[in-house]
Amino acid sequence: MNTKFMEKIAIIGCGTMGNGIAQVFATAGYPVHLIDISSTALINAETNIQKNLDRLISKGKISMEQKPSIISNLHFSDDLNNGVNEVSLVIEAVSEDVKLKEKVFRQLDDLTQPSTILASNTSSISITSLGSFTKKPEKVIGMHFMNPVPVMSLIEIIPGLLTEKEVIHKVISFSESLEKSPLVVADFPGFISNRILMPMINEAILALQENVAGVNEIDQIMKLGMAHPMGPLQLADYIGLDVCLSILNVLKDGFGNPKYAPAVLLVNMVKSGKFGVKTSEGFYLYDDARKIIGVSNKFCS
Ligand code: CAA
Repeated sequence: MNTKFMEKIAIIGCGTMGNGIAQVFATAGYPVHLIDISSTALINAETNIQKNLDRLISKGKISMEQKPSIISNLHFSDDLNNGVNEVSLVIEAVSEDVKLKEKVFRQLDDLTQPSTILASNTSSISITSLGSFTKKPEKVIGMHFMNPVPVMSLIEIIPGLLTEKEVIHKVISFSESLEKSPLVVADFPGFISNRILMPMINEAILALQENVAGVNEIDQIMKLGMAHPMGPLQLADYIGLDVCLSILNVLKDGFGNPKYAPAVLLVNMVKSGKFGVKTSEGFYLYDDARKIIGVSNKFCS
């Protein structure tokens, strides 16, 4: 049991990121309360984690005997009131919407112990602003996980302006206990990961919009020439085109610099409900197992 750095942990929001984070914590031996207002989301999260663990067993990465103890660390609940009052760490992993995050942080401020660390998995929203929604900004910090969480080793750690040193050190030690690689960056829009990743994705979309090359050519050039595991257009679909658009807007507004302005094609795809993998269509078409069928008809000549 690895309970050295945190006692109980709660995760708010059990979408792709929330359930990936929960799987990693439970596998490292930490008891986790996974909380979501949607009971369907909770059921899907449990199914996903079970499926992922079975895949890891079939690859010999974990033993059959480990699975029940990992599962026993996971508690699913739709009740925020009871799920967070005795935990030492909360990870907020709700949608990337500042109003929703404000509501969650205000509730967490009321419901948690004064010593509870409140972390956000936000991909771009200011940690200092999230801290300002609470009476304990010194306990608020960013822990930005990458998708798929069980595979990617990075955790971007973002202290807000008022976050205390002890909290930063505790979160770093905890991240290392998960066998992840925490790297600390300052609270600037998009931090480091998305400040660099999103302009690359946006540039790929601009190149497509200007007919410099097709979807396949753009992605293959970055895969074969730069050894990226996915091309930028496939990665945009994977992250979610709605999420990419919202992060680019945070960068544009946060820096007041038009160099981050999202491509019109990205804006139009989001307006037409083409969000990528999660809606089965973005730059590519996807089957029910989320595998690529081919390039979307819109981009075939
Ligand atoms: N859970 C657990 N394991 C998973 C997984 C998941 N959800 N998805 C893939 N894997 C594992 C597979 O089991 C496989 O393991 P082995 O090597 O032991 O066989 C390994 O990952 C590779 O998977 P696949 O063979 O199925 O597929 P692949 O080789 O095409 O890799 C990928 C898939 C790991 C997603 C790879 O394409 C990749 O690294 N893509 C880039 C991902 C990336 O950039 N993520 C960051 C996005 S940005 C972000 O998250 C933050 C933000 O703020 C926007």
